[in-house]
Amino acid sequence: MPSTTTTPSPPPLRPVTGHRGAKGHAPENTIAGLRKAHELGVVWVEFDVKLTSDGVPVLMHDDTLKRTTDGRGDVATKTLSDIRALDAGRWFSPDFAGERVPTLDEAMEFLAKRGMGANVEIKPCPGRDAETGATVARALAARWMGMALPPFVSSFSAEAVAAARDAAPEIPRGLLAEKFPADWRAQLEALGCATFHLDQRRVTDERVRAAREAGFRVLAYTVNEAARARALLDWGIESVFTDYPERIAAR
Ligand code: G3P
Ligand code: MG
Repeated sequence: MPSTTTTPSPPPLRPVTGHRGAKGHAPENTIAGLRKAHELGVVWVEFDVKLTSDGVPVLMHDDTLKRTTDGRGDVATKTLSDIRALDAGRWFSPDFAGERVPTLDEAMEFLAKRGMGANVEIKPCPGRDAETGATVARALAARWMGMALPPFVSSFSAEAVAAARDAAPEIPRGLLAEKFPADWRAQLEALGCATFHLDQRRVTDERVRAAREAGFRVLAYTVNEAARARALLDWGIESVFTDYPERIAAR
């Protein structure tokens, strides 16, 4: 694995990042969700991206279509055209009927027009880690790094982060972790990550301090209670991912 000599870092974040747009209020990973986040005063949003069978990055969390669309089957076996035919809003509420699964470019265009920023979570379908990381990074590098708030990527998949780094080293990278890995520092350094995105249930004051002292910026997901957000931010978490941005005062 080639190593990187530089570690690009995102612009300063806000204390609140909209999770999958504004997941509590609008169907996740849709333009309607990004619009809702904007209406709530959110500047930075997180969303999940995976590839269609024909290699197009689209906003989607699950490997299968069932939960968040009216389709069935695996995302990895569907073309963009297949996925575009689906309704991605009605499952959430009839008010959102007709909402489509956006492409990465559509989401970025929406955000660019509103001066918003994106944490693009690379969420590979099984076996597509490197392909997804490289494709997403190339797409962002080709069109979106000139935004007022340029995007940064993250993933639970170290392989995807490494592929993003190799495809477009200038894009800031973060590593997501459910557990707090013993070798966190070595992993972050090997991948050239500036940010470390932790499950808020595993975050402690000591862990935040250790990561920050090692030079990393620390984020926490998913925080839907104001008091917990306050504690995390007081410990030095830079931003919390939340489904309900309005619950957390400073955004
Ligand atoms: O990127 C933060 C958070 O979204 C990670 O978990 O499952 O909601 O994508 P998940
Ligand atoms: Mg996510």
